[in-house]
Amino acid sequence: MHSIEGYSSLPPNCTTRWPPAKAKQILTQTLNSLVNYTKTHFASEEALMQKYRYPEYLQHKAEHDKLTAQVVAFQSDFTAGRSMMTVDLLHFIKNWLAHHIGQIDQKVASFLKQQAA
Ligand SMILES: [Fe+2]
Repeated sequence: MHSIEGYSSLPPNCTTRWPPAKAKQILTQTLNSLVNYTKTHFASEEALMQKYRYPEYLQHKAEHDKLTAQVVAFQSDFTAGRSMMTVDLLHFIKNWLAHHIGQIDQKVASFLKQQAA
């Protein structure tokens, strides 16, 4: 399982007055890192669930797919200049992942431990 440590690196001080281009660059990099980490984490977890025939695989994957679709849509809108990124949005994603990894994924971890026993 992956940890949530990768999510702790949001921009250090979001109230800093960056030039707009610099701010967009930092936010874009942060969002891209979040999207890439999320996709990698979800893909490896889904592979494990399938390999060991996790009984709640479909529900779990549906949660992954829902968040991925939301984040990718936002990433696309942000990159195209159709929406603005807020600290609240980044915290929403971070909190969603912390909840998912901290609670939902724990059920998978318990299941996999049983399989290995
Ligand atoms: Fe998961």
